[in-house]
Amino acid sequence: MEKQTNYSFPKDFWWGSATSATQIEGAADKGGRGKNIWDHWFETEENRFFEGVGPEQTSDFYHRYKEDIALMKEIGHNTFRFSISWSRLIPGGRGEVNKEAVAFYNAVIDELLDNDIEPFINLYHFDMPYELQEEGGWESREVVEAYVSYATECFQLFGERVNTWFTFNEPIVPVEGGYLYDFHYPNIVDAKKAVQVAYHTIIAHAKAVEAFHGLPGQKGKIGIILNLTPSYPRSQHPADLKASRIADLFFNRSFLDPAVLGEYPEELIELLGEHGQLPETLPGDKELISANIVDLLGVNYYQPRRVKAKENEPNKEAPFMPDWFFDQYEMPGRKMNKYRGWEIYEKGIYDIMINLKENYGNIESFISENGMGVQNEERFTEGGEIQDDYRIEFIREHLKWLHMAIEEGCNAKGYHLWTFMDNWSWMNAYKNRYGFFSIDLETMERAPKKSARWFKDVSINNGF
Ligand code: BG6
Repeated sequence: MEKQTNYSFPKDFWWGSATSATQIEGAADKGGRGKNIWDHWFETEENRFFEGVGPEQTSDFYHRYKEDIALMKEIGHNTFRFSISWSRLIPGGRGEVNKEAVAFYNAVIDELLDNDIEPFINLYHFDMPYELQEEGGWESREVVEAYVSYATECFQLFGERVNTWFTFNEPIVPVEGGYLYDFHYPNIVDAKKAVQVAYHTIIAHAKAVEAFHGLPGQKGKIGIILNLTPSYPRSQHPADLKASRIADLFFNRSFLDPAVLGEYPEELIELLGEHGQLPETLPGDKELISANIVDLLGVNYYQPRRVKAKENEPNKEAPFMPDWFFDQYEMPGRKMNKYRGWEIYEKGIYDIMINLKENYGNIESFISENGMGVQNEERFTEGGEIQDDYRIEFIREHLKWLHMAIEEGCNAKGYHLWTFMDNWSWMNAYKNRYGFFSIDLETMERAPKKSARWFKDVSINNGF
């Protein structure tokens, strides 16, 4: 029975966690899976990855999903987000569907439903099939078409039992990492390409939404998951305000506006136009974007962006960069996650929600990722359990602000932690641990942390 709580959340609130295929499945060369860019990057530049650990085994969810889903059930999850690996389902990215992959994802979905956990499926979490990257990845309009076929295949294969879909997770990250700041494959620095990649991602997204809504008898919902990083100006000085507004345009509104409102912000178009950075488009694109807005929005929130006006004129001889227009700074007195080096600003979650309410039609949304990465977390083990009180506090304080936003009428439907169990993360591999469950990397055994017990109570009581 539910206990009376001080912070009680709306009925049927989604309590769960989020993961992604490359980060948890493992079995990278098993079950007919094709290579993606991460397998390739690790093969060619192993030293870029923390302690030289690649994505071949990760958390071995491919073999242990039943055990993991039982643990989800045990800690009160009613929803769980995972992604489909494009290169597992369609090795090479286009063409024939891999039957073993269909069987695997069907089994995961069935297992979740049998345990009363709603599957939330995301279609793309940074994992371009390698062959398609060779064709230019998101730089290529043909790859957009391959993605739409892949998405349609997924809707047809799993759509009867899955009601909640997402086209992309954090689509700005491959743009920043792959084309501006060198932390994702293909690690080049070229703003023109970055803009083209971002634009093609939105075209792919809109086409997938169109395909989804066009399926006969469709009763599910489709959205996108964006890492919204609120921009806070250093002061109310017009130059600081402008710098902060431009950072927001580049890093939030470049995806938020087309996905939710169906159009790009005028100011962003002008800014890119002035600097000769507009992408190539095709006739009909504008209408496609405006006709295919999302049904719901996932919000990943980790940290804010503190912005001030540029101190020195940027070198305009060098290639165009978003940072020509603003500087980031470390706000004195800010609260830090000292185990990861990121700022903690819980109110950010409230500010995001209020912004969605006031400027984005109060779109149905949820916190699709929030979490606290910790290095060397085993050091907090006592009596055989990791005492992650810092994570409990982190989640609780964010939930309080989410609760306040809901009380003020925001349309927030749930909270998912990043992540269910410690997993492999892009170049950081196993450096930062985020899970409710730790993993022994030798034996692959899962063990609950203190936060898992705490979150179970919160989920069962629908509040705290
Ligand atoms: C999120 C991504 O933004 O950050 C995840 O969606 C990622 O895929 C997580 O694992 C944590 O990143 P890191 O670098 O701290 O391990």
